[in-house]
Amino acid sequence: MLVLGFESTCDETGVALVEDGHIVLANAIASSAELHAKFGGVFPEYASRGHVEAILPLTEQVLKEAGKTKEDVDLIAVAMGPGLLGSLLVGLQFAKGLSIAWNKPFVGVNHVEAHLYAAMMKERPPLPALGLVLSGGHTLLLKVLEVGCYERLGTTVDDAVGEAFDKVATLLGLPYPGGPHVERIAIGRNRSRFPLQAGKVKKSPLDFSFSGLKTSVLYALKGQDGAGDISLSEEEKGDLAASFQEVAFQDLAAKARLAADAFDCKALLFGGGVCQNRRLKEIFEEKFPELPLFFPEASLTLDNGAMIAGLAYHQFLKNPVSDPLDLEAKTRIPIA
Ligand code: KG4
Ligand code: ZN
Repeated sequence: MLVLGFESTCDETGVALVEDGHIVLANAIASSAELHAKFGGVFPEYASRGHVEAILPLTEQVLKEAGKTKEDVDLIAVAMGPGLLGSLLVGLQFAKGLSIAWNKPFVGVNHVEAHLYAAMMKERPPLPALGLVLSGGHTLLLKVLEVGCYERLGTTVDDAVGEAFDKVATLLGLPYPGGPHVERIAIGRNRSRFPLQAGKVKKSPLDFSFSGLKTSVLYALKGQDGAGDISLSEEEKGDLAASFQEVAFQDLAAKARLAADAFDCKALLFGGGVCQNRRLKEIFEEKFPELPLFFPEASLTLDNGAMIAGLAYHQFLKNPVSDPLDLEAKTRIPIA
């Protein structure tokens, strides 16, 4: 089954052609991130306009790259949420339009679930597994029973882990999106120089809280009233980035340990942009020597159309009907 997948939840437009949920024939991405850099975060209207400009040329590009035509496409898939409404609408309306024009079924899928599915595209992990979605918008611990069947174990009560990286990056004067820059300046620096702490959520040992950690970084830079300027050297900023990153990841690993020990967990699956961080991988390798870890390939880690097409294949196999044309974009969707 050849699936054409569309991703437009935030500032990346992704279009991909995937065969039988696992073979990526073409996976093209356009990003409007540069336009947002000066705002320190995504400017929604610019993101929507970026999708409008990119989506048709990318569709033509992936068909050409894969040597396929519209006749070869069996199913059209689109991320229906969660995300920015204007951005979602571009992908959803485009997918519906193609579905009518080409007379093909279409299905809407959950973007967050697709991030996790990305770790199952190239390999088939043993299940049940512990799933960790670590992105700019989500921090989730899930028990993965099978594709499409999850139990939510933990989530963040405030900032998502990627969001905390982006905010800390802004405090450190680094560009958006900040995660890769925080990782870069932290390399080789002192991880224990700043005594930071991640939040604990009362009566919810598997939930996360990163906003206090972010505020501690602010205090380290601006003093206890948050208004001064401590003028840290570049080396000290590197130490602060390394200390922040270490505390955030050790917290994720400790809660993942608790979650994994509570069921017959056979593997760990990772999804979302933060999984690109090499220190995160090192820490989990150290803390889970007995379990196989499945990270998505680099091209499937950030927002992309291939994970959408891949997940849609499984969804359509289970329930082979087209979604209705009045399917709505959803800015929030619970995954479990
Ligand atoms: O999964 P994603 O592309 O988008 C969402 O669905 O949110 O993730 C983007 C997030 C951003 O917050 C970005 O700063 C973070 O992933 N990120 C990283 C790294 N690369 C991207 N965070 C930490 N270290 C990285 N190397
Ligand atoms: Zn995403």
